[in-house]
Amino acid sequence: MSFIYGRLANRPDVPPIEWNPDSSKSINPHMLCCGGSGSGKTTFLLKIAKYLTEQKKHIYIFDLKGDMVIKNDNGEIIGNYIEFTAWNSKYGINPFEFDTGVSAEELASIINGEAEADKEQLFKMQNSGPKVQIQRMIEIIKKNFMPNMGTNQKDVLYDLLMDTYLLKGFVYNDIKTWGNTLPDLSDTLMLIEKIIMFFNGEFSTETDSVVEDFTDKIFAKIKNAKLNKTPVSEIQEEINKLLIDFMEQSHNDDEISDLNPKEWFCANNIEVNKYMKKDVIRTVEKLASYINALVSSEIFNSKTPPVKPGLNVINISGLDVEIQRFIVDVWLGKVFKACKIRGTYSERKNKARGAKVDTYVLIDESKLIAGTSRDKNDPYSYLNRIATEARGFGFGIIVAAQSAEHFPPEFLKNFDAQIILNTGIADFDSVRRSFGVSKELLEFTQYGWGKALVKTGKMFSKVNFIETKGSENA
Ligand SMILES: Nc1ncnc2c1ncn2[C@@H]1O[C@H](COP(=O)(O)OP(=O)(O)OP(=O)(O)O)[C@@H](O)[C@H]1O
Ligand SMILES: [Mg+2]
Repeated sequence: MSFIYGRLANRPDVPPIEWNPDSSKSINPHMLCCGGSGSGKTTFLLKIAKYLTEQKKHIYIFDLKGDMVIKNDNGEIIGNYIEFTAWNSKYGINPFEFDTGVSAEELASIINGEAEADKEQLFKMQNSGPKVQIQRMIEIIKKNFMPNMGTNQKDVLYDLLMDTYLLKGFVYNDIKTWGNTLPDLSDTLMLIEKIIMFFNGEFSTETDSVVEDFTDKIFAKIKNAKLNKTPVSEIQEEINKLLIDFMEQSHNDDEISDLNPKEWFCANNIEVNKYMKKDVIRTVEKLASYINALVSSEIFNSKTPPVKPGLNVINISGLDVEIQRFIVDVWLGKVFKACKIRGTYSERKNKARGAKVDTYVLIDESKLIAGTSRDKNDPYSYLNRIATEARGFGFGIIVAAQSAEHFPPEFLKNFDAQIILNTGIADFDSVRRSFGVSKELLEFTQYGWGKALVKTGKMFSKVNFIETKGSENA
């Protein structure tokens, strides 16, 4: 089934103008929508989201204003809503989470030695893993936080991230280590602290925090037991278990912290000498301040959000714009990789969610993902790469923005579906130029809501959007 935009303004008698990303005529599943403030972008995207949900697509909507609430025909809210908050966030995103190139089951059987990786699996794995993830993290950190990151800083950051993986036993070229527990950015900070201490000739043990953690846990158990009136015998057993865990854990920690600093790095296979130069330490300290900002945002932890099949709305409206960008970037990469693992769409056997596309990412403010004007134009930038490759893997991107300049040129050139809504006077000329539409055409959008230019084939046409029952108030 198609999405109906509406009817041609000058030929209301001909069949309505439609969009169907799964139809044979569709070149790619992407869509962009440009319109001034209050022109109806959000209202339009909500309709598209509803349509895609009805078409059974996997959808990730990044909600930057808290206004993406999708309702069905009966006015009931649909979808899975995930909220990230500036503090005490229920969920997080771990930038160390990497793609392995194979499915979780395949990886498990390779690690257990039940199966050898075949040629194809090996090839995929050799293009994935911690090393690839580090390159991606560096690119994202550079784009969002340190646009002027130089080669030296890049190299040091690379080492720090690689050593963070090492802390948890990951060796990038040893697939058998890829099932370990992932590190997170607080591990990077811990590592940095140790490096700086080592450089300054200090080193301390960490038993205190382990003890604190243990007493917290006991306290929580007792409090819960009191609340729930749990019998003492039951709670005793649980506390015993905690105690045994604690004794084992603190024993291990003692062993490590009793080591001299040099041995601590050795025990973790970290070659610390590379950091022991004044300029490198200065870079480490500088990077630490950025990583500290990320860690203190409390978003970059391992509390994986409960994504569900179908519609997911990820509310990141309360976060700083850099953090929003970071999350969208990491998430986009994750979704894209997941699509890629499933293989070329045309060769897939299961196409229950559509003939050409089964996954969508929808963003109401493309300024947020486009980055600086430099990487906006860079054909190799992460986002441009995704936009050009996504189609083949059944992954569609939908973005809206207030001004044409917020779209990467790659989007303007290649996105199949394009919609222009009422344009702000200040943006009139740039919209005309960017989309190649005449003054006369663009003036049509100025008549009010629901007067849109819709690209069908290579041309824009004047379209009157169909009325929807009741208007959704923002
Ligand atoms: N087709 C339409 N018919 C009637 N009212 C509409 C239509 N589209 C939008 N509106 C109304 O216009 C107002 C602004 O719409 P909307 O929030 O979708 O605009 P926007 O482009 O997303 O604005 P912003 O740039 O501020 O986010 C809303 O109150 C909405 O109900
Ligand atoms: Mg809006």
